[in-house]
Amino acid sequence: MNVSEAVRARRTIRAFKNEPVPEEVIREVLELARHAPSNSNTQPWRIDVVSGDARDRLQAAIFEEIKAGVKPSPAFPPGGTGLKGRYKERQRECAFQYFAAIGIDKDDKKARMNLSMKNWEFFGAPHAAFLSYPETMHRANAIDIGIFLQTIMLLFVERGIASCPQGALATYPGPVKAMLPIPEENAILCGLSFGYPDLEAQINSAAAKMDREPVEVFASITS
Ligand SMILES: Cc1cc2nc3c(=O)[nH]c(=O)nc-3n(C[C@H](O)[C@H](O)[C@H](O)COP(=O)(O)O)c2cc1C
Repeated sequence: MNVSEAVRARRTIRAFKNEPVPEEVIREVLELARHAPSNSNTQPWRIDVVSGDARDRLQAAIFEEIKAGVKPSPAFPPGGTGLKGRYKERQRECAFQYFAAIGIDKDDKKARMNLSMKNWEFFGAPHAAFLSYPETMHRANAIDIGIFLQTIMLLFVERGIASCPQGALATYPGPVKAMLPIPEENAILCGLSFGYPDLEAQINSAAAKMDREPVEVFASITS
């Protein structure tokens, strides 16, 4: 598989097989991903992966917080906050397409809530990763984390591993930081659930695959 093929093949996957990714494969991907570029080579990324028992304990701890009524406390405003115009519209279209693909009525608040809760079940993935960087760094440094994240997702695709990037996994940092060796100074920017895809699951059907705007909408080349 070449890079172009990996870019085309990657898509967000939200149901996984109950089969862990061998640790050496995860390590190999991280070994390659560290070659990602960053501003002044600061390499501000930090990734903490949970698997097996630790993954299950973390899910349970997050759900305990949710059930106890603890309010979400992301370090950064979530990506969907305050969207306007065409961006708001795309967000709505994305949500409606997603609900329709899995047969949820967009007005069925309970079903939408149940679906949303799957974020903190890591969509059934055998692994979840948390990406963080020093909270005192500026927004511009988040670019480095984004590049690192996409590098990992593409390397996963090359190995038949699917993933779901999740801003939602930044919203309950308490249990995550309590369980994982994330530096105190770091804030969680997002998570990444990953594993081998369950392509039979309706949530991963072709109907849930998101389209993109054509190049003319977002690019110009002037000479
Ligand atoms: C930074 C980031 C945060 C995201 N957060 C979530 C999330 O919390 N929950 C979720 O189900 N999908 C999340 N997504 C997945 C997007 O909805 C998905 O990437 C988008 O709809 C495009 O679809 P595709 O990845 O299949 O091409 C996130 C994606 C990114 C890049």
